[in-house]
Amino acid sequence: MKILPRTNFTGEFSIPGDKSITHRAIMFNAVAEGEADITGALLGEDCLSTAACMRALGATVETDGERIHICGAEKLRDASLDCGNSGTTMRLLMGLAAGRGVHVRLTGDASLSSRPMERVAAPLRLLGADIATEGGRAPVEVRPARLQGCRVETKVASAQVKSALILAALGAEGETVVCEPLLSRDHTERMLAAMGARIRADGCEVHVRKSGLRAADVRVPADISSAAYFMALGALRGETLCRNVGVNPTRAGILRVFEAMNVQFSLENERTVCGEPVADIRVKKSPLRAVSFGREWMPSLIDELPVIALLCAFAEGESVITGAEELRVKESDRIATTAEMIAALGGDCTATADGFVIRGKRALEGGNVRSHKDHRIAMSGAVGLAASARGGEIEDAECVNISFPRFYDLLG
Ligand code: S3P
Repeated sequence: MKILPRTNFTGEFSIPGDKSITHRAIMFNAVAEGEADITGALLGEDCLSTAACMRALGATVETDGERIHICGAEKLRDASLDCGNSGTTMRLLMGLAAGRGVHVRLTGDASLSSRPMERVAAPLRLLGADIATEGGRAPVEVRPARLQGCRVETKVASAQVKSALILAALGAEGETVVCEPLLSRDHTERMLAAMGARIRADGCEVHVRKSGLRAADVRVPADISSAAYFMALGALRGETLCRNVGVNPTRAGILRVFEAMNVQFSLENERTVCGEPVADIRVKKSPLRAVSFGREWMPSLIDELPVIALLCAFAEGESVITGAEELRVKESDRIATTAEMIAALGGDCTATADGFVIRGKRALEGGNVRSHKDHRIAMSGAVGLAASARGGEIEDAECVNISFPRFYDLLG
């Protein structure tokens, strides 16, 4: 994909639905009693993987534009499930299958097959789950077993690990308490509570008891992780307005970074939709200054780090980002691929063991960016090229379909 530079990007953007919320709305309704409609859903490849898996398990999942109609399966059937590129699909399904006594085999593409799965399997085994990984990775096999609730402390602040444990706990005897080191995104807790689950969140702890679910319609807000590319363009080159964006505090860490970087932005029309905070986000071109932050901020902005690092490359001064080693086990090693992307644009970014040191330059030259088939590297690179002096090309550009199928059209 060839991207030409422009000096002004001003406009209003309708960003696709939130990926995390769409996965959960499909998966949870597919095992609930009754029927539900999901509107504003993201129909990117990752969420389509979840839809296909839930169909294979016996639920009815029909898509029509951005609307998904779901009729839950009373009992799931054993199945072999292809999770594609989607970590959320595989990890949440491990917990769901364990909690519902179903035998599943989970596989994925080359990237997903290289990502760690013991971080989910090991804590699930504490509840009694029967799970086998291959050297800690996919394929993963989950066999029926009786689960008993207990207290589980997770090592990483990961919503995928937490959600898998909560889903298993819905089928375990007694109470399960999931405790994480820092609060990760809480969409699972919010949605399951609205569906009748016996679940109570208290800081970094979630208390869960055996419960059934009632189907519930979900209106999915726009994904702040996708809006982030257009917010960044506003900060660099004009003024952008992204409507109807989910601003759940466990997801909106990029706004804290914007404050620290001196980005002018405002939240308009703040409201709550289906239990999730939503707002329109306006961002204006601003003289960016360097920012430094660490581990505490990570869970609320982990997926936005490639584009945040890119903004730092355009800022005045040296930015230091630490405590981000989770980036090494995303769709690509995002510490390496983000640093490479910024260097390809002519920026100055050093990868460290757990983050980046970025020496900002007011202008970047442009060049050719390798996405490494990672959607967030492709989109961050495209923003960088659009704001660069000469532009350039994105290699393996089509991977944006994972989370944002119309990304290049919207950028155009
Ligand atoms: C997600 C959780 C995060 C995030 C991923 C989506 C989710 O992963 O990076 O894109 O929907 O639960 P971790 O749980 O590995 O932190």
